[in-house]
Amino acid sequence: MVLETVAVALWAMLPAYVPNNVAVLAGGGRPIDGGRTWRGSRLLGDGKTWRGTAVGTAIGALLALGLNAARPAVADSLGIALPTFPAVAAVSLPLGAMAGDVLASFFKRRTGRERGAPFPVVDQLDFAVVALALTALAAPGWFFDTFLDPPGVLVAVFVLTPALHVGTNGVAYVLGLKDEPW
Ligand code: CTP
Ligand code: MG
Repeated sequence: MVLETVAVALWAMLPAYVPNNVAVLAGGGRPIDGGRTWRGSRLLGDGKTWRGTAVGTAIGALLALGLNAARPAVADSLGIALPTFPAVAAVSLPLGAMAGDVLASFFKRRTGRERGAPFPVVDQLDFAVVALALTALAAPGWFFDTFLDPPGVLVAVFVLTPALHVGTNGVAYVLGLKDEPW
């Protein structure tokens, strides 16, 4: 059932979707790269800060625990079997999401893109790809059961993530929270 697949995909990815948006609100302070440059460009740039990364990861992990608490009631009312996050996945999803975004900035700087410059496709998927990869390594059994059994859940993640990213960043831009709509 398509709706069930979409519901599982969204539920399982929520702890990876929220951290980057939290970082926009919580960001500021010391950049992770400490201002260092490499071959004439910043290593990461002022847009990747310790505070944004730490707060984003922590809120994402807390959200996973909150979803675990809410799961029985939500699953019951929707009539859908939703996954429970093991502790490892509750951390690997948000940590991977933040790491993917940081990695993307590293590649942006290497390819001459200034802070805030768009990097189509990479901007929309970096966080999801690294969140999934780290989770596949850290909690392989749960990753398989959740995203590959059936594999339509993983397909749904790759369809829904870019759409959600464009939507939420557009809203954040309109609200004046973000300097660019990507
Ligand atoms: N942010 C942060 N730490 C992170 C990610 C984001 O503090 N790890 C905050 C920063 O204030 C950043 C804002 O969220 O400016 C928007 O994030 P993003 O669009 O990812 O960064 P950019 O400033 O556009 O920089 P880049 O070009 O490197 O993506
Ligand atoms: Mg940006």
